[in-house]
Amino acid sequence: MTLPDDDLPDQDEVDASIKLITDNAQRVFSWNYDRDREQLVTLYNKAMASQWDSVNDLDWSTDVDPERLVQTSAQVNVTVEVARAAKNVPGSPFANWGEKEFTELGIEAMKATLSQFMHGEQGAMMVAAKIVETVPWIDAKYYASTQTMDEARHTEVFAKYLHSKLGDAYPMSPYLDQQIQALVEDDRWDIAYLGMQIIIESLALAAFGQMLRSTQEPLLKKLLRYVLSDEARHVAFGVLSLGEFYENLSDAELMDRQEFLAENTLRNRNRSTIPEIWERMNVDLDKALPALHEGAQTLDKSLFTTFQRGFYAKLVPNTRRLGLLDANNGHLRTLWGEAGLLEWEFADDTATDYETYDAVARDRAAANAG
Ligand SMILES: [Fe+2]
Ligand SMILES: [Fe+2]
Repeated sequence: MTLPDDDLPDQDEVDASIKLITDNAQRVFSWNYDRDREQLVTLYNKAMASQWDSVNDLDWSTDVDPERLVQTSAQVNVTVEVARAAKNVPGSPFANWGEKEFTELGIEAMKATLSQFMHGEQGAMMVAAKIVETVPWIDAKYYASTQTMDEARHTEVFAKYLHSKLGDAYPMSPYLDQQIQALVEDDRWDIAYLGMQIIIESLALAAFGQMLRSTQEPLLKKLLRYVLSDEARHVAFGVLSLGEFYENLSDAELMDRQEFLAENTLRNRNRSTIPEIWERMNVDLDKALPALHEGAQTLDKSLFTTFQRGFYAKLVPNTRRLGLLDANNGHLRTLWGEAGLLEWEFADDTATDYETYDAVARDRAAANAG
């Protein structure tokens, strides 16, 4: 059937609403249906039992006032604090700003952050689906299928929260876009795991945890508690699967993985800015940068590091468990040691602590007891 030209979408519209990526990994069927990876079986059973429902478990009738949301979030965003600090710098573009403008910036920063969560969740859904298709073990295929569903629900709830409570979403940050694209394209199945389950999921645990602790808004709080319950399992999935796979790789292959981790932690730091925030606030970022830098200098360092600490406290022990700190005469141990990241080496690793995140199971137990 051919459609008349008028019914076809305009090419620009297509380009703006979808993105095409070619995946170079091979699809793998497994004919071995034995359930011989016990920890993955346990994790899969847990994932099935702890599924939640985005329509019935969250109260979407909750009234959310964006201004109040920002004012009652203890640590809305470093962006706002930096802009506040920049207000008094001579020649600052924020000199005339009052509470109204800072609150507005806070709302934009909150929207931008939640938008990155939403896009990141879609990326996670794509990568989980890729793992279903490329991992050679049946237990891992089953588990990754539950994760694909989890990530669909996460994408959906962040999109719904943004659109129904806060307004326009922001585009994906170029840094996140590039990171996820690389994982979808890679021809090695374990790199999708390493990049998503170990690095990006650890980032997500830290970022969602930080927002959960800082906000008072009940719908967002419950949404984040439930998303976090799932994310902790996802990191565990990566640790359990890759631990087995990396036992059998050569030194040269392990070096590639160590370099991948170094590249994504040491060399790519601080590239997650979202320039559109400033456009929406009518601030010329190039002109504002000197004042923002100067403002940032005066701020308490802990504002920047809380999130980084949460991230490394997950990433470093998980990496140690995979044997990637010590392979090749401690190549990554040396690099991370120089960057001061080894203080987290013996923090709880997520292969074991995912049960403590299970807010869904806890809420159900409490409802049954009551
Ligand atoms: Fe997720
Ligand atoms: Fe996840």
